[in-house]
Amino acid sequence: MAGDAAWWQGATLYQVYVRSWLDMNGDGYGDIRGITARLDYLSWLGIDGIWLSPTMPSADQDWGYDVCDYYGVHPDLGTLEELDKLIAEAGAHGIKILLDLAPNHTSSAHPWFTEAASGRDSPRRRWYVWADPGRDGGPPNNWLAATGEPAWQRDDASGQYYLHRFLPSQPDLNWRDPAVHEAFGDILRFWFDRGVTGFRVDAAHALYKDAGLRDDPPAPEGSGLDAEFGLLQSRSANQPETTGLFREWRAIADSYDPPRLLLGETWVGDLETMAGYHGGGDALQLTMNFPFFFAGFTARELSGIVAQTLAALPPGECPVWGASNHDISRFPSRWCGGDERKARLALLILAMLPGALIVYYGDEIAMPDVPVPPGLRRDQMTAGDQGRDHARTPMQWDGTSSGGFTAAGVRPWLPCGDTSRNVAAQHGQPGSVLRLCRDLLALRSAEHRGRIASYRQLPAPEEVWAFQAGQLRVTANMSDRPARVGPGGPVVASSSPGALQGATLAPWSGVITA
Ligand code: GLC
Repeated sequence: MAGDAAWWQGATLYQVYVRSWLDMNGDGYGDIRGITARLDYLSWLGIDGIWLSPTMPSADQDWGYDVCDYYGVHPDLGTLEELDKLIAEAGAHGIKILLDLAPNHTSSAHPWFTEAASGRDSPRRRWYVWADPGRDGGPPNNWLAATGEPAWQRDDASGQYYLHRFLPSQPDLNWRDPAVHEAFGDILRFWFDRGVTGFRVDAAHALYKDAGLRDDPPAPEGSGLDAEFGLLQSRSANQPETTGLFREWRAIADSYDPPRLLLGETWVGDLETMAGYHGGGDALQLTMNFPFFFAGFTARELSGIVAQTLAALPPGECPVWGASNHDISRFPSRWCGGDERKARLALLILAMLPGALIVYYGDEIAMPDVPVPPGLRRDQMTAGDQGRDHARTPMQWDGTSSGGFTAAGVRPWLPCGDTSRNVAAQHGQPGSVLRLCRDLLALRSAEHRGRIASYRQLPAPEEVWAFQAGQLRVTANMSDRPARVGPGGPVVASSSPGALQGATLAPWSGVITA
């Protein structure tokens, strides 16, 4: 593919969790019209594309990730016409729209599943993963769902079990059935024909399962993210056939002009496995890097993952960086413990890494996690601990009690955080995190757009991460002590004014030099 067609190289994508962005119709949920209304803001911020969290009709057991109809728009969020309008108006702002596609499972309320569950002879039975009970009459194997419970649900009518990697209301599709491939090929074309730029592919690593449904083995020490609840997900996920499916989809994506983009949610700990989903440059163009998300905010850990990632990816393939999303704690809390110096430094580093960047809504104002009291929680996936709601609270647009997210008197679907940290205040304040983020994204765009900048780590004291990215040099002091750093060229940007005094870089601060 021609280099200039690969716009995502060096691009900044912005994830909007639609229900929490902006509520235009006063029902307490953000909606598609709210995104259209804020395109000027996103264009000012300097992003290239938006990934919308799920927009399709859903039973909302998992807020859009339990799809009931792959061809529609959730009535809480708007209409197909409103989505078409968003795509058109975003296009006029030079912003591309990616949708979220959940192909690992449907809702149990999807008509496909209702039909499949109607009996063993149903022509759709094979669209899902059914199995007879194990020898003890219990679940067919030891696979566990994201909740830690068995990943199998007994269907009393047939006596069989169906597989659900997530909630019991999210039955897994059977990607070993060619009819499922056909159905999703049609879904991809439907949305690509409407002008959608691409998809973020949910649970991309998990689509195929071991054909013999063999047990997952116990996880050896150090399996990191590939282990869940003590099991290595080597049979319930990460099967070699998955890349073949992505090649099929890539052929569809490449048949469009401009070619469409596939960004995988590859929740794997092993970077070689992640890189495998790029095939030989003919499968997913982008894969999310979870080891980077979950690394500690230290020079050693993050630089190590960058080096390993660049070494693992096939030549010419584009890495993806990000630090927050709707499933994990936001980076200003997780990495930075609310310390704004660290959040500024994180943004400076992220903006300069080579490849694509995903900014999660609110990252640009260093919005922290918002603790949601048990009685107000909406996420069912991780009962027991705090779940994921803390990273999904309404965007903080202004300092009013509802943060400008919804009209006065309307109760937002999740509570707002401390709205003193908000877009309006930071917009008007030179030197704010928002203004810094915008400046960094502009610099990023000027230097990185349309290519994967060369990257070279430079010698530095242990707690300093120094690297050359394209024409620019980044020096980040990731410690509580001032650091002496080598002479650099003129300062192009810094995480805070006066970060560099002579050869001394203040604690938790960074500079970009030419
Ligand atoms: C992905 C989504 C997550 C969802 C799960 C099941 O991990 O990011 O929010 O719960 O898939 O669809």
